[in-house]
Amino acid sequence: SAASILTKLHSDCATPLPLLRQVSHAMAADMRAGLAADGASDLKMILSFVDSLPTGDENGLYYALDLGGTNFRVMRVQLGGKEGRVVATEFDQVTIPHELMFATSEELFDFIASKLAKFVEKEGGKFESRRGRTREVGFTFSFAVKQTSINSGVLIKWTKGFAVSGTEGRDVVACLNEAMGRQGLNMRVSALVNDTVGALAGARYWDDNVMVAVILGTGTNASYVERVDNIPKLHAPKSAGGSTIINTEWGAFSRGLPLTEFDREMDAASINPGQQIFEKTISGMYLGEIVRRVLHRMAEDATLFGDSIPEKLQMPFSLRTPDICTMQQDSSKDLEVVGSILYDVAGVNSKLESRKIVVDVCETIAKRGGRLAGAGIVGILQKMEGDSKGAVFGKRTVVAMDGGLYEHYPEYRRHLQDAVTELLGPEISKNIIVQHSKDGSGIGAALLAATNSIYPH
Ligand code: BG6
Ligand code: GLC
Repeated sequence: SAASILTKLHSDCATPLPLLRQVSHAMAADMRAGLAADGASDLKMILSFVDSLPTGDENGLYYALDLGGTNFRVMRVQLGGKEGRVVATEFDQVTIPHELMFATSEELFDFIASKLAKFVEKEGGKFESRRGRTREVGFTFSFAVKQTSINSGVLIKWTKGFAVSGTEGRDVVACLNEAMGRQGLNMRVSALVNDTVGALAGARYWDDNVMVAVILGTGTNASYVERVDNIPKLHAPKSAGGSTIINTEWGAFSRGLPLTEFDREMDAASINPGQQIFEKTISGMYLGEIVRRVLHRMAEDATLFGDSIPEKLQMPFSLRTPDICTMQQDSSKDLEVVGSILYDVAGVNSKLESRKIVVDVCETIAKRGGRLAGAGIVGILQKMEGDSKGAVFGKRTVVAMDGGLYEHYPEYRRHLQDAVTELLGPEISKNIIVQHSKDGSGIGAALLAATNSIYPH
């Protein structure tokens, strides 16, 4: 029956405190292994080459490109130094056409460069007071890149459903430069950053206590400030000192996660089977799809929606995470919103009893995701605290959060915070502020472009 499938789901997805503890310990241990040597851990612990965070003195006009979330964005940021801070930003945003996710590298980068050219064209010369000066860009590229310097890096692997051919193994800045050349654009990429690194820099600009940034959107990842002394694979001279940002690529984490048959089937059917298991369990691209798979099983084995299996429900990714979020918000007596979403998405007329089960499935998957994300954050904090007692737990420490999932899914956010508080206990959690920092990554990328500008300040 549907009830017995649900009971099994509850127990397979359970995240009691001891399990969360194991997850955060494993996260911390995998971080250490990844810092010791490349390839030694699920976590790549990528060096960002960002060694100095924004100070607030950054000045001038910069651009930011943001590729890798749901949308592609171009932004112009006027930085005003200590007094003015960020004076003005303006941006354009487009959804990446689905076919481009399966196109060739040239097609994807031509699309990006053409949007950038349009954006610059619209300025109509307004920003050309310092003639002859090349426009500088901070490029936020939200995929696993092996950085080779602050403005170059090779794409290791596409994630989040992207399967563009010819980019893996190439320097993405070179790809962008070539496409900008084809558009006749005179622009220079001064900083290439992961979205989590941009978010960390952007949030840090406003608040010195920001030490970690987490993206929970289509995909998920985290970056944090690490001491150079704690990065053996850097082979820095002893007592080199200083700190840098590490991009953990925690989406690839996999140890000790409470997975179900639905997760395993979704993974097997994905374009990157066996990879990004944490991401597939907690991030926005996948939560709706996991729920769909559960409902499909309930329809098939337990006639949840009557005798036939609704055709639309068989379609992968037809139920999206915003849908399951909306269904969870439904406070009407008859769960009318749930009914209408099920009708639109799955083409079924549902009874109240089935709707209640559907909401329960959504809650179960969102709760597991939120709590595991919380455990991941605590893992990072514990790793940092473990290396220098009191430096993190003994003072105000901010974890900057961004991404569509975190921003728009209140229940998910609550479960995440609950897990953090449960794991840290009431005293320490008073010092740990997990907060939304909206669109920091664009400004962060512009700030890092300023820091790495070729023009003297
Ligand atoms: C945005 C950040 O708010 O969130 C981006 O500025 C990031 O840099 C994005 O990639 C991720 O969220 P989503 O929901 O668009 O995948
Ligand atoms: C994916 C990418 C990672 C990015 C994250 C969030 O996990 O591999 O680089 O930061 O999504 O957008």
